[in-house]
Amino acid sequence: MISGNAKVCGVIGNPVGHSLSPLMQNYFAEALGLDFIYVPCNVKNNQIEAAIQGIYALGFWGLNVTVPHKQSIMPYLKEIDQAALSIQAVNTLVRIDGGYKGYNTDAAGLYRALKGHGIEVEGQDCLLLGAGGAAKAAAYMLMEKKARSITILNRTFEKAETLAGEMNRLFGREIMTAMPLGDYEMLKKDSYLAIQTTSVGMHPQVDAVAIEDREFYKKIHTGVDIIYTPKETRFMKLVREANGRAVNGLDMLIYQGIIAFELWNPKIQISKEITDKVRQMMEEKLKG
Ligand code: ATR
Repeated sequence: MISGNAKVCGVIGNPVGHSLSPLMQNYFAEALGLDFIYVPCNVKNNQIEAAIQGIYALGFWGLNVTVPHKQSIMPYLKEIDQAALSIQAVNTLVRIDGGYKGYNTDAAGLYRALKGHGIEVEGQDCLLLGAGGAAKAAAYMLMEKKARSITILNRTFEKAETLAGEMNRLFGREIMTAMPLGDYEMLKKDSYLAIQTTSVGMHPQVDAVAIEDREFYKKIHTGVDIIYTPKETRFMKLVREANGRAVNGLDMLIYQGIIAFELWNPKIQISKEITDKVRQMMEEKLKG
């Protein structure tokens, strides 16, 4: 039951109607019997500052931030966590004295998802497909968790170069290199952990893939697509058909939400049982 003292959290985005976060966060609260409610808030792009002031005045305890506000919200925060500063994007806010502190739970969410599937990062040669916002969180995680080497393949080479330069500087190690997408035949190693962060292959363009050549997939022992609609992307299919292991992005979505929930409710840990139940609910919802 929601009382007059309920902790109120929500998600801001534009649009926000497709978000699975209300389903997930309200399920966590219900399963744990917490006095907590999570609401969707559609905020126009030129209303960010007003929205932050408004939710603070209304007493909101926390927020998730989704597209297109993850960067534009940063100037209006009181504090920003180091990982979020490095990734240059905030997806979670926690109320502090006088405003909000911004966090990014995408990198840690991706790591927990990989852990859950028994996928190691430390010591691995990694491929990152894409160099956009989602790639930054993945790049940060791969660096932080001590990958051996990371090659970014991107259609726009300059963006990959910039991202590699930033990450190498940040971590003080020259292990990230950039490559134009079309040069994948020049990859030196023969067994990679690949993380697919481009938007190619997302519903409704389910037959699209950034690299079609089956030879490329022979070099991938594990392929993680951060897309979760469709459940199996063409990228994942090509990885599997070349005898690799493939994982979609649903667990990353779930774990970034779990980490946010745990930031808002510091004494709480979401159990495996609740995680499995929420995954099942979200899969049902995505089936339509
Ligand atoms: P997000 O925040 O979801 O990562 P983004 O910042 O717009 O979104 O990044 C999208 C990524 O998908 C980029 O790496 C983009 O490549 P470019 O940097 O060359 O734009 C990649 N991408 C999108 N459409 C693509 C396509 N048709 N082929 C190859 N890469 C594509």
